[in-house]
Amino acid sequence: MELLKKCQQVLEENRRGDFTIPSPKLYPFQWNWDSGFIALGLLHIEPEKALVELETLFTGQWGNGFLPHIVFHNAEKYTTYFPSADYWNSNVSDFAPKKLSTSGITQPAVHGFVLEDIIEYGFDRDRIARLYDQIVHYHQYLYDYRQFKDTGLVAIWHNWESGMDNSPLWDSVFKRIHPDMLKDVIVKRKDIHSVEDSAATRPTDEDYKRYIYLVNYLRDHKYERVPEDFPFQVLDPVFNAILHQSNKSLARIGKKIDIDTSTVESWIRRTEEHFSEIHWNDEDGLFYPFDILTGQQVKIHCAASYIPLFAEIPDDAQLKALVANIEGLEDMLLVPSCIPGQPGFQAKNYWRGPVWIHMNWMISEGLRKYQQNDLADRINSDSIQLIEEYGIREYFDPLTKIPEKNGYGGQSFSWSAALTIDMLKKKES
Ligand code: GLC
Repeated sequence: MELLKKCQQVLEENRRGDFTIPSPKLYPFQWNWDSGFIALGLLHIEPEKALVELETLFTGQWGNGFLPHIVFHNAEKYTTYFPSADYWNSNVSDFAPKKLSTSGITQPAVHGFVLEDIIEYGFDRDRIARLYDQIVHYHQYLYDYRQFKDTGLVAIWHNWESGMDNSPLWDSVFKRIHPDMLKDVIVKRKDIHSVEDSAATRPTDEDYKRYIYLVNYLRDHKYERVPEDFPFQVLDPVFNAILHQSNKSLARIGKKIDIDTSTVESWIRRTEEHFSEIHWNDEDGLFYPFDILTGQQVKIHCAASYIPLFAEIPDDAQLKALVANIEGLEDMLLVPSCIPGQPGFQAKNYWRGPVWIHMNWMISEGLRKYQQNDLADRINSDSIQLIEEYGIREYFDPLTKIPEKNGYGGQSFSWSAALTIDMLKKKES
């Protein structure tokens, strides 16, 4: 079957009424930023479904604007995911929806830029305006609860909020959670039963205990505010770049549908003033996360360093340095989530090295905004080649070249399918 068809089929099979799950075995509910990227693929098939995907995600929004990373539709039907809806127990917060269980942490704010693409396909103003308000409310939550010193940059409180779960970027932060703090933490992992070769391709049990330690901590604080010494407080260039890009989209959409955009524009200005001051490292020519507790950047070269291209943050000199760094990644498939040779790199292990299609998509879209089309084409062709050869998987080893075995994690993976559709369609046009 033709690749485009196969990708469409994955999206159809993973559809559960008004939303799409990321992957049948591993992730049986609705995930936040997955749905945003899935919507971009649906736009090429049935634009109405893209809008419904986002509308359904926002049924999980909390009264204070918070948007959870998982919405547990039909929670009782699926027992193959840990931590479950019961474990998160979103009801500890008065802000949580009463009729729907959700997680208590969030994920990158992709919805603004996705909405901008959706309205290109024609729209019903009332529905768009409703979603627009919900997205602004979510961003307002981020600035109210998470902003670092009036910088227009917001903190993440859990590695899962970055969406890059076991990235080496978080290793130094996790050193703060000592083994003796984990003695009462019980994990009942399910992910390792849903994939092959889990020891080499998924986070370790020790890592997982730390993730659950943070969940317990946040749940004890009703997922609302954290004390100053809370161990995981990080400014992530991926999270902040995506938020910035979505704000820029909201400003443009607001003008189109006649909504006041002054608040959104003030967020944009503030972020523009401070993004590079916090995230840019001139010596290495890369953007890095910033650990609030140490006041230092986390200097590990990962795909995360390139996502600010997507939000058109780099100036000319920064662009030059970033492009030189990507071009220096010779003899490997682009773009490894963590660059070979960096501390913590592992070619097959989840966020410690493998290529992820949605990261590639953001980097290549970003490069195109700067007319770096050759490099963007190379990234897209590596992505399509991987999917074509090994299937619509969750992630891929950047060092193992065809025809060896490659392709790891979940199968029939929705955002890999959705963004392959987008890449293929753009290649045609
Ligand atoms: C993994 C990824 C995360 C994604 C989720 C569902 O946890 O790290 O980014 O949202 O799976 O696909």
